[in-house]
Amino acid sequence: MKTITIANRNNTVYKVKGKRPLLSELRSLGLVLPYGCQYGGCITCAAKLIKGKVDQKSQVALNNRQINDGYVILCVARAKTNCTFDIGVESHDKLYRNPFIDPLEPHELKADIATCREIKHD
Ligand code: FES
Repeated sequence: MKTITIANRNNTVYKVKGKRPLLSELRSLGLVLPYGCQYGGCITCAAKLIKGKVDQKSQVALNNRQINDGYVILCVARAKTNCTFDIGVESHDKLYRNPFIDPLEPHELKADIATCREIKHD
């Protein structure tokens, strides 16, 4: 069992098995969370990991900058250790940024789009 603490909900504590995605496990325990696609593509369920470790290999919504800022896609992430999160839109303060004011650096992009590819036309 893993202990999941929700810091911005009065440090409420939940016990999960870590076998299913956190969105599913926490919702089954009564926690109300925002979500949409439930396959890691829409970013609606993003939460900020404050402490701990998750496996979110199958997510496709976050870029490297968002991952480095601690964001986790709860609909696909499984807890590997005890974790502490901020959840909901209140945790999204660093999730988005204005690309015209503060553009992404190449290393912040996803690995598969960070490399400039040559385009050929026949
Ligand atoms: S609900 Fe869409 S990414 Fe999690």
